[in-house]
Amino acid sequence: MNLRALAGLGLLVAFAGALLVVSRSGEPDPQGPGTTSVGDSASAALDRFTGPDSCLPCHADVVSEWRASMHAQAFLDPQVRAPSQSNNFQKTECLPCHAPAPLFDHGILEGTRVLARGERRADGIDCLSCHRTGEGMAASRTGLTGACRPVYREELSTHRMCAACHDQHNTHEEWLVSPAAGAGDDCISCHMQRVARTDTEVGAPRSGRSHRFLGGRDRDFALAGLALTHELRQPSGDAGDRVLAVTLENRFAGHNLPTDSRNRALDLVVTLFDAHGLALPATVPLVAPGETEGTARRRFRNPYRSSGNPSTQLPAGESSRLEVPLPSSARRARIELLYKLQPFITDGEAHWSLTEDVVLP
Ligand code: HEC
Ligand code: HEC
Ligand code: HEC
Ligand code: HEC
Ligand code: HEC
Repeated sequence: MNLRALAGLGLLVAFAGALLVVSRSGEPDPQGPGTTSVGDSASAALDRFTGPDSCLPCHADVVSEWRASMHAQAFLDPQVRAPSQSNNFQKTECLPCHAPAPLFDHGILEGTRVLARGERRADGIDCLSCHRTGEGMAASRTGLTGACRPVYREELSTHRMCAACHDQHNTHEEWLVSPAAGAGDDCISCHMQRVARTDTEVGAPRSGRSHRFLGGRDRDFALAGLALTHELRQPSGDAGDRVLAVTLENRFAGHNLPTDSRNRALDLVVTLFDAHGLALPATVPLVAPGETEGTARRRFRNPYRSSGNPSTQLPAGESSRLEVPLPSSARRARIELLYKLQPFITDGEAHWSLTEDVVLP
């Protein structure tokens, strides 16, 4: 080490000492414990914010919502780690969106894309991924002060925050042309519901935004966005069969149903029963894996590219009608909507289901 470097080191030590004295003897800090002292550079002040645990003292509700979300699972999710998928992230091209570095460094700005981070990957998509900027935590409001140095960033409250990753499976593209986008509803309006922030959070009581990020796997959330109806049609005159027409409508109209990963399948199944309660078989044999039960069925899904099959997702705002001719022996019908986390599993293994029984006159 040369003399000049040594002198520099001495200065640094002296400076640090001076800072210590100032913060020990100065006025009580107006922002409460844990705030940064005058003289710290923004980046040094932010270094203590190492992950979600470091937000806990002041943003407990947000942290617990986030912990229950799929964003917190993105790196640990067994579906993502499966040998046929990222193979425990040996496929490093899977890291950027599942364990991302701060988006405000890479991902939001024109011409940049999300990059992987090297540390704390188990935290998945965490607070720092979405909020950390060079100056402080990206905030949705102006004029805030706090230990985490909230700085207003206009991009935070827009779909651009989500598009950075959620176009892997076209969700953002689907949304751009959807009726919801036309009406001014974006990803945040639907997926970050308003919640009350009370005394467990810093700041005055106010309305915040849920960090649970509910999606299709939450039955209530998904069902609130769609409509399943049926209608019994008698033939006119004596020609033709009676028909049970079942309609599924993508009413939330924000993007395709289901959107996202090709693993997802939504199955509509109609099973007819005779007077003895025996299920009537399908007139056309149902042979595809995971699609073998019931009398008639329709699958909504974005298939694997390699299959060459077209997408059968239900576009935003549209409906799909399944018409089931009723043989004279049919006495009862069961209508089921099954949400599957993987396409090739049985109906019994569905993540959630909605069932309606119809008596056929
Ligand atoms: C010592 C307390 C403290 C800690 C720890 C802390 N913050 Fe903050 N944070 C605040 C205060 C105070 C505000 C301003 C709140 C207000 O005035 O309503 C704030 C505001 C924010 C905002 C802006 C809120 C808005 O309405 O847009 C974000 C985002 C934020 N913090 C993120 C974080 C993250 C992420 C962490 C952890 C990495 C963190 N904070 C750690 C005290 C803290
Ligand atoms: C450009 C961002 C991006 C990259 C890169 C990426 N993913 Fe994802 N992945 C997502 C998003 C966003 C979701 C959640 C919503 C969706 O499926 O679109 C997701 C979801 C998944 C799911 C579904 C998890 C579940 O619970 O069903 C699997 C499996 C998955 N990814 C595997 C991978 C694999 C394997 C790779 C690497 C070959 C990879 N991803 C790379 C963005 C990405
Ligand atoms: C850094 C990449 C990234 C960003 C940014 C991001 N997501 Fe995600 N999101 C993912 C991944 C990856 C998953 C899937 C994790 C898994 O299933 O293992 C996911 C899951 C979800 C889910 C849960 C889906 C389910 O199956 O339950 C919703 C909803 C969601 N994201 C919405 C959003 C919204 C809204 C935004 C913008 C405010 C956003 N995401 C920003 C990568 C991202
Ligand atoms: C996928 C991206 C994403 C992740 C991960 C994320 N946030 Fe946020 N957060 C947002 C967005 C977007 C908003 C602004 C919503 C709006 O427009 O009001 C926000 C708003 C906030 C707010 C102000 C609104 C409120 O509800 O009080 C706080 C505080 C906050 N985040 C803290 C955190 C903390 C702490 C974590 C980690 C536990 C975290 N965020 C993780 C995207 C994210
Ligand atoms: C008008 C409301 C609305 C808008 C706008 C919207 N979504 Fe959704 N989203 C939903 C509903 C309802 C579901 C549940 C039904 C489903 O699975 O498709 C859902 C499901 C999802 C899922 C999970 C799909 C699954 O199968 O688990 C992801 C991921 C998602 N949305 C991301 C986004 C992103 C990213 C945007 C913005 C580009 C967005 N959404 C815009 C309402 C909306």
